Amino acid sequence: MQDSFTGFPTCLCGARLPSEAEWVALLGCHRERLRAFDHLVEVAGECGIQADQDRHFFVLPEDEVSLLEAAGEPWSGLGRALRNFRRLLPLVSLTLFGFEPAGEDVFENNPPRLVRVGGGVEALAFEAPDASIYKFFFFREGGYIGSRFSYARGEDGLIQATAYPGTYRQLLEKLLLVSRIGVPTEVVGISPEGVMIVKQALGEPLPQGMDTSTVLPPGLIAIPSRFLRADRDHPRLYFLDGEPWLVADLHARNLVRCADGTLRVIDLVAGAWPSELTRGDGIMADWMARVRLDPAAGALPASPDDEL
Ligand SMILES: Nc1ncnc2c1ncn2[C@@H]1O[C@H](COP(=O)(O)OP(=O)(O)O)[C@@H](O)[C@H]1O
Ligand SMILES: [Mg+2]
Repeated sequence: MQDSFTGFPTCLCGARLPSEAEWVALLGCHRERLRAFDHLVEVAGECGIQADQDRHFFVLPEDEVSLLEAAGEPWSGLGRALRNFRRLLPLVSLTLFGFEPAGEDVFENNPPRLVRVGGGVEALAFEAPDASIYKFFFFREGGYIGSRFSYARGEDGLIQATAYPGTYRQLLEKLLLVSRIGVPTEVVGISPEGVMIVKQALGEPLPQGMDTSTVLPPGLIAIPSRFLRADRDHPRLYFLDGEPWLVADLHARNLVRCADGTLRVIDLVAGAWPSELTRGDGIMADWMARVRLDPAAGALPASPDDEL
């Protein structure tokens, strides 16, 4: 299938869920994009190029280093790494979607083929004529985008997880997590201004205020409240490719009912688990080792979070 705005290959159209094979390919694409970004940063480092914000790398045009490539390695490697990253995260003009990037408030009015369906702090969501959802993640002051968790150990010994604006790489990680445990989500590209453009299958909203704690996806492990406190709803531990993550903000507005009847996550706040804070804690390490082998092992019977 071709995306109706960009012409790029896509496995998403309206509420349709991808086949098993398409889903696997979609997740592979998310992982490959992250690897390509890391490789780009690594080779740039070999060339003596560093950036205080990863946004600078995210918006680098494909031909930015072409003149330097003639100098041989590591510059030619940088050119290859940049082209590979751009293949996986193309620069896409917002004008393709009918927006006027030069305007005062780019997303204020619906463009001809998109209808705003929601959004707030991180992204604006629009529905297209084919019922696909497009999200535009805008960046904030300092070049931050999306969200992440930062951690500190409180005086009571508890780990406090606090949601903060994140980096572009952390947004790619979050979108991988959403695709893995929630609604299939494609990264369409990034606008030259730095707006991340994402496509998602359409779902049906859930009743406002519905308690989602008992309908969360399998593999999300309830965290005993004596271990960690988060400033977002329903904090859960999740192992992605063997690595522990904190995943939260799983309230009713961040879940939808999909075409196959399942309830799935469309949005979340995630952070790599703070292993440096938990390593020395024997009880927590023991719990993590148990639930890593069997996510159901440490979970108490389904109950609202505050009873854990
Ligand atoms: N895949 C989707 N299907 C249906 N509605 C959606 C979808 N994605 C987003 N929305 C609507 O847009 C709102 C905001 O989207 P979300 O991804 O949660 O962005 P934000 O980061 O701003 O919370 C949702 O609460 C929902 O009403
Ligand atoms: Mg949300």
